[in-house]
Amino acid sequence: MAKDFDTMEDSNRSTNPSIHDVSDPSRRIVLRGTLGVAVSALYAPLVAGCAAGASRDNTPALAPSIGFKGVAVDATDKLLVPEGYIASVIAAWGEPVGVPGNMPAWQGDGSHTAAEQAVQMGMHHDGLAYFPLDGNNSTRGLLAMNHEYTDDGLLHSGGLAGGSAEKVKKSQAAHGLSVIEVASSDGRWNMVRPSRYARRFTANTPFAIGGPCAGHTMMKTAADPGGKLALGTFNNCASSKTPWGTYLSGEENFMGYFSGGDTLSPHEQRWGMRKGGWGYNWHAHDERFDAVKTPNEPNRHGWVVEVDPYDPTSTPVKRTALGRAAHEGAWVAVTKDGRAVVYSGEDARFEYIYKFVSRDKIRPGGAKPNATLLDHGTLHVARFNADGSGQWIAMVHGQGPLTAANGFADQGEVMIKSRQASDALGATKMDRPEWLAIDPLSGWVYCTLTNNSSRGAPNFPGVDAANPRANNVFGGIIRWQEDRDFDATTFKWNHLVLAGDPANERAEAKGNTKGDLYACPDGIAFDARGVLWIQTDAHATQMYKGELKNVGNNQMLACDPRSGDTRRFLTGPTNCEVTGATWTPDGRTMFINIQHPGETPSDRSDPAEPNKFSNWPDYKPGGRPRSATVVVRRRDGGVIGT
Ligand code: FEO
Ligand code: CA
Ligand code: CA
Repeated sequence: MAKDFDTMEDSNRSTNPSIHDVSDPSRRIVLRGTLGVAVSALYAPLVAGCAAGASRDNTPALAPSIGFKGVAVDATDKLLVPEGYIASVIAAWGEPVGVPGNMPAWQGDGSHTAAEQAVQMGMHHDGLAYFPLDGNNSTRGLLAMNHEYTDDGLLHSGGLAGGSAEKVKKSQAAHGLSVIEVASSDGRWNMVRPSRYARRFTANTPFAIGGPCAGHTMMKTAADPGGKLALGTFNNCASSKTPWGTYLSGEENFMGYFSGGDTLSPHEQRWGMRKGGWGYNWHAHDERFDAVKTPNEPNRHGWVVEVDPYDPTSTPVKRTALGRAAHEGAWVAVTKDGRAVVYSGEDARFEYIYKFVSRDKIRPGGAKPNATLLDHGTLHVARFNADGSGQWIAMVHGQGPLTAANGFADQGEVMIKSRQASDALGATKMDRPEWLAIDPLSGWVYCTLTNNSSRGAPNFPGVDAANPRANNVFGGIIRWQEDRDFDATTFKWNHLVLAGDPANERAEAKGNTKGDLYACPDGIAFDARGVLWIQTDAHATQMYKGELKNVGNNQMLACDPRSGDTRRFLTGPTNCEVTGATWTPDGRTMFINIQHPGETPSDRSDPAEPNKFSNWPDYKPGGRPRSATVVVRRRDGGVIGT
């Protein structure tokens, strides 16, 4: 989700020292394309579990090449791909997901009911992942994906208009996750409907609570006195696939759905609670979202959730050992001895980057033997030092400041109060960490820092080495190499790029499409060849004006992280966000999501008139723009990007 700068959260007012207190902010730290050969050699056997392709004994020796001719910046309401490629839309908002015997057709006018929406594709597609069926199948599989939030002006006939219980239920049903079956014939992909795998997870689906917060006092509510079963997942952003075949999804801006009282506790304030919430109005018709009546309910959200898409009867789980945060998503690497290391970030201004190291090794056999793998281990938070080194600081109850005397009664409370714990540990406040990705060839870990216009503003933290730009409207990508293995407590870091280099803008003006003229990197993912795919999410309030005036619509680029060569692959329709990237095992089909075409500056469309920015992908006069999944293929059936 892009965020309207006036409404987004920036609740970190902690006084833990920023790096700028000890660093020289004028130091030049943009180190593009400087991955050393020695680094690649060191990490060649360390394979990131979330990236397909490279294996412990099959590490490509050559840097990836990018073989397409880049497309130009564009600001029209079209999705454009390079010559020789074709993009087609499947699974748009409102299409039935394919639940047998319950497949209500898309109505087109927002008149569908809450019950119908609960078995149709949700709104505002975000992260997604392909799960092959029947082995390593590149022509038939499952797509699991997130539906981040709703534009109620589009969702309902007549918009939210004060709300009603039915509208709140429909909004809740349009959030969450979908699992759909897809198959191709002669390169043309379609949804398989009905499918026994087809499933929706909404804001009312039961989720088991796993890890140290299961049964915790702060997780108990009147409706769930045991504190072990929470209803719903919502505001899910990024996602990934684990090496054991499950889907991880991050609950991001969950606090916007809750309304607090006139007086907020320090805990509520630190998590950005407001009276009235962010305008979803769920609290008016669903007591769960009125934090005055159900003060512990917000503690049951902000987790990474794990879903087994292959088992339609499985109960999804909230993994509390990974910490509570406005999680963008979570990504798994594997240590030399086979333990899972889960990286995650918190997409909010001045929040943190986390790493969980599992106690146990990954077991063969898929989801079931690993059902509690992510419930036991140690969470760490990152500190980026000015000299290019960094530390992972363990978040363990009883260690350092994480004691009962400081408000952390036990490990569960450390996890529920991950932000406060990170403040106390002196972690580095980042410029909105969004997606992470692990290079399957080198083992370097990459993280987008999408933007932060408050950096350096009065009463906000100033610049530091890792977040070196005040009024950071362009964003960038930071990366690090663990010092020994993925479970290391120290690392070396630098920036792949600080986006918006004026030199690239000048090059583009001369017709050179090879460069990094883009802003607000958000989604990133490595393909099997080690190409880093970058997707952008500048908000409607930023686009086409000021410093971003020449950047055009949001876009997707391919980057060789070894050389820094970056080429624009795709531009999206007007005011959309480009997000989510996943490939079939053969690399010949790429699925992405287009989110919120026609986004308005307020994030909500005016229900009284057609969206004035976009009516992609249907282009029906007066029709509603729809988020949708896009299938990208080469016309000759070749590997994407070569
Ligand atoms: Fe939902 Fe951080 O984008
Ligand atoms: Ca995002
Ligand atoms: Ca974003």
